[in-house]
Amino acid sequence: MKLVICGKGGSGKSTIAALLAKSFVKKGNSVLVIDTDESNFGLHRQLGVDLPQDFTNYFGGKDVALEKIMAAAPDWESISFFDKEWGTVDIPSEYFSQKNGIKLIAIGKIHEVGEGCACTMGILAKEFIGNLRLNSSEVVIVDTEAGIEHFGRAIEKDVDAILMVVDPSYESMKLSEKVAELSSSIGKPVYFILNKVDETNEQFLRETIRDQDMIIAAIPADTTLSLAGLKGDEITTDINEIQNMNKFLIEKIGQ
Ligand SMILES: Nc1ncnc2c1ncn2[C@@H]1O[C@H](COP(=O)(O)OP(=O)(O)OP(=O)(O)O)[C@@H](O)[C@H]1O
Ligand SMILES: [Mg+2]
Repeated sequence: MKLVICGKGGSGKSTIAALLAKSFVKKGNSVLVIDTDESNFGLHRQLGVDLPQDFTNYFGGKDVALEKIMAAAPDWESISFFDKEWGTVDIPSEYFSQKNGIKLIAIGKIHEVGEGCACTMGILAKEFIGNLRLNSSEVVIVDTEAGIEHFGRAIEKDVDAILMVVDPSYESMKLSEKVAELSSSIGKPVYFILNKVDETNEQFLRETIRDQDMIIAAIPADTTLSLAGLKGDEITTDINEIQNMNKFLIEKIGQ
C-alpha cells in the first residue's frame, strides 16, 4: 500500500506520518517512509532516527540529476532515473535510516543558499514512488511539503490513497476543497484526518468536509504530542484514532 500525506503547513502531516508508520509496524508490516519535504528537518526526529543523506546523491547530486531532466525536456514523460523496478531492498544502505521495522529515506533537502529550486527532487520523488514495487507486507508513507505543489508534480498518481490532514484553520478548510477536487480529477481516493481538534471545533470542522464519510480520524489536540514536537523528540505516544485508521486503511485498500 502506498499512501501520501498532504495538508497545510504545520497541520500535523509529519506527526501523523510518524504515528501511522509506527502503528503499521505494530500490526506486523514493514514500512518505508519517504520524506519529500525539501525544507523541514523534523520527520527523522519524530521517527527517532538520523537524517539519511539525500537520495538525490545516488543519482550524482542535484546538478547531475537536473542535467538529465533538462536533456529530456520538453518530453518530461521520457525522463527515467530507474532502469528497472525497485524494491525497498534495493535502496543502498547509505541512503536510509532504520529502526524497528521502519526505513526512512529523504529525497533531498535544501542545504545551501542559491542551490536552485526543488523541482529536481520533486521529479525524482515521483519517479521513485512510481518505480517502487512492494511485497504484501510493505507499506509506503510519503510525507510531503506544505500545500499542493506535489499535485503539480503528479506524485499522487502513483499512490493508492491520499490522506489529507486538516487542522482547525480557515486555510486548511479551503485546501481540503482543492485537494478533494484534484484527487477526484485523477481518480484517487482522498481520506481526511482532522487533527488538533477539541470539543469546540470538531463538529464545525467535520461539517466543512463535503463527503463526511471520507473523514477517517479526528485526532485530539494532545499536549504530549505538541511537547514532543517542540523538543524534537521521537513520538512514542499511542493514539487510539491512529490504530482505528490503520485498520480501516488495511480493510479498504489492502496491503
Ligand atoms: N494532535 C496534535 N496535538 C498537538 N500538537 C500536535 C498534534 N499534531 C501535531 N502537533 C504539533 O504541531 C506541530 C506541527 O506538526 P508537524 O510538524 O507534524 O506538521 P507538518 O504539517 O508536518 O508541518 P510542515 O508543513 O512544517 O511540514 C508540531 O509541533 C507537532 O508536535
Ligand atoms: Mg512536516
